[in-house]
Amino acid sequence: MTTATSKHPTALSPGWHRAFRGLTRSHGFEPLRVEGRVPEDLRGTLYRVGPWTFDVQGRPFQHWFDGDGGMLGVRFGPEGVTGAARLMDTPTMLTERRAGRRRYGAYGTPTPLLHKLSNARKNSANTSVMAWNGRLYALFEPCRPVEVSPADLTSLGETDLGGVVAESFSAHPHRVPSRQTAYNFGVRYGRETTLDLFALPDEGPARLLGTLKLPGATMVHDFIATDRYLLFFLPALRLDVLRMVLRVGSFSGNLRWKPGVGSEILVVPIDDVAHPVRIPTDAFYQWHFANAYEEGDRLVVDYVHYPDFTTNQWLGQLAKGPATTEAQGRFHRAVVDLKGRRFHTEPRADVSCEFPRVAPSAVGRPYQKAYVSIHTTTAASHGHFDGVASVDVASGHTTVAALGREQYPSEPVFVPRAGSRAEDEGWVLTQVYDARSDTSHVAILDAQRLGEGPVARCHFDHALPFTFHGGFAPT
Ligand SMILES: [Fe+2]
Repeated sequence: MTTATSKHPTALSPGWHRAFRGLTRSHGFEPLRVEGRVPEDLRGTLYRVGPWTFDVQGRPFQHWFDGDGGMLGVRFGPEGVTGAARLMDTPTMLTERRAGRRRYGAYGTPTPLLHKLSNARKNSANTSVMAWNGRLYALFEPCRPVEVSPADLTSLGETDLGGVVAESFSAHPHRVPSRQTAYNFGVRYGRETTLDLFALPDEGPARLLGTLKLPGATMVHDFIATDRYLLFFLPALRLDVLRMVLRVGSFSGNLRWKPGVGSEILVVPIDDVAHPVRIPTDAFYQWHFANAYEEGDRLVVDYVHYPDFTTNQWLGQLAKGPATTEAQGRFHRAVVDLKGRRFHTEPRADVSCEFPRVAPSAVGRPYQKAYVSIHTTTAASHGHFDGVASVDVASGHTTVAALGREQYPSEPVFVPRAGSRAEDEGWVLTQVYDARSDTSHVAILDAQRLGEGPVARCHFDHALPFTFHGGFAPT
């Protein structure tokens, strides 16, 4: 059971806002009620992670990113569909929950006065999931991975992956199929801000590829990989490191948007990490990449583009209700000319979107479709996403899934059909909060027929808070 309490959003809140309350029941795998017909070839487990607390004993966190992590698991097997939902338990989370008061600073919440001399950092394990070498992990950008039991989603403890992760391990590892290796990074702040690069081969131990100096104390959330390169868009953000060290204000509050310094495109050759290509360009922001591939000496990169960092304010406000600003993310295609050292980016689809995903078969090569969370109207873009869609990346044409009224999805995850030939032959899985019944389910959509609505819904008997990221581990 959760030990943190939450102020219930009221009946007058917009529908999606009622999912911004702490998990009411933590449990292992139990049968889910299935509506419709689960495809027979769908076998495996969907894992998802998000912040699943919003306060400590009624004292709210000041940003959506600050809550303690929870993990959702939905298992599709021959005996039916089972689901688990469990709050993560790292030692720092437990210390805070048992104390019944905040002990640590978080992304958008300052460290409490009495604890400003402590160096301890709470591992909230609240952002993403990684399945690697037969093990399962919850990931949180400033900290080390937290291993989780696939049997019942209980937390097994933090790991440095065999002494490799010094401090931080981003929530966005990317696997390069041609190298049978996943890559990831971690940012370390100090007198210099550095970027650790990690390699996680399908077989064998993790290793540190190298460490690069960043142009300043910026924040890096995601990257993308091709056969030969790791690619970062370093934003025009600068952290006031002195204020952070002195624990004045929150991490988010100490980030400054500095359009004058511009963004930097950092391209790291996987086989020669000490000699990256650095291309300065105009300031923009990005949280997530969709995909990238090589075309000779050019890299084609699809991602969700923002003109600046106001999306951070939007994300921070959602836990309290509708944001004062609209979400501004747009699906973009960029071309990085490595020889000419040029960067060009332009919009591909005119819809507010985030959480782009592609089919596993499309990773790192020319492809056709990305799947995104969207706002179906401009008015909706002050709130949580209220739709999912596929984007034809050649034309920018979007196809919106028919989820129904008052249905609020999380990131869409594509799962290929067994023996599929076409890239889009498969299922789109998304966690949905149904504001009419105040419960959550996982909807299964045919990726080629999104407009026809879910082929099945797998219902929990309670509401789950939204999740950020997840993945499907086939049986
Ligand atoms: Fe993310």
